Amino acid sequence: MTTAVPKAEILAAFEAAKGFMPAGEGLALYEAAVGAGALGLPLLEVGTYCGRSTILLADAARAAGVTAVTVDHHRGSEEQQPGWDYHDPETVDPELGVMDTLPLFRRTLNTAGLEDHVIAVVGRSPQVARVWNSPLGLVFIDGGHTDEHATADYEGWAPHVAEGGLLLIHDVYPDPEDEFTGQAPYRVYLRALASGAFTEVSATDSLRVLRRTGAGI
Ligand SMILES: C[S@@+](CC[C@H](N)C(=O)[O-])C[C@H]1O[C@@H](n2cnc3c(N)ncnc32)[C@H](O)[C@@H]1O
Repeated sequence: MTTAVPKAEILAAFEAAKGFMPAGEGLALYEAAVGAGALGLPLLEVGTYCGRSTILLADAARAAGVTAVTVDHHRGSEEQQPGWDYHDPETVDPELGVMDTLPLFRRTLNTAGLEDHVIAVVGRSPQVARVWNSPLGLVFIDGGHTDEHATADYEGWAPHVAEGGLLLIHDVYPDPEDEFTGQAPYRVYLRALASGAFTEVSATDSLRVLRRTGAGI
């Protein structure tokens, strides 16, 4: 089996974009997205931030002739707010004094030449999930890290993963010593496996790739 690797310019755009995903996880995300693209269904991300991971989903979507969808309210997660470890002052709207990552995301996507392959949905993940009604080839959960948010992302989006499609969960830390933003993604990962609807495909650092192999969620 050959491994799908992004072209040098895509990898460079990913590395230049603001964000938190390390290159190793990015390569695993890309490979999963290229594989899932073969289903001919959209690839959806929860948690756009400034578009770092979106670049890889968008390029995989382009290769497969499908669309990447990315969902974010663009007001930042808890740990990205002023005073917290993951805060970046450049993400604050100077007039409103609140975070707004949408302009940075749009710049990222434009620079990477990938605008035509992405639908950006600005809104709260559970609210968007409630009006979503079509199957997805891939769902990548990288939104809020509280139990409330991670659970809502799983319950809202996992049912839309098509049979044979992939569910990816970021920031899965089985050891509480390793985590900085809570273990909610780990608990969601365990729940997905326990449901019988998903089977683990791979683990790369904190990124888990699961395949939909059953009915219940
Ligand atoms: C860790 S960042 C995403 C990082 C991004 N995937 C990357 O690779 O750079 C999490 C994002 O989730 C968004 N977010 C958190 N909770 C959300 C919710 N309930 N609905 C929509 N977006 C949410 C935040 O605004 C933030 O931009």
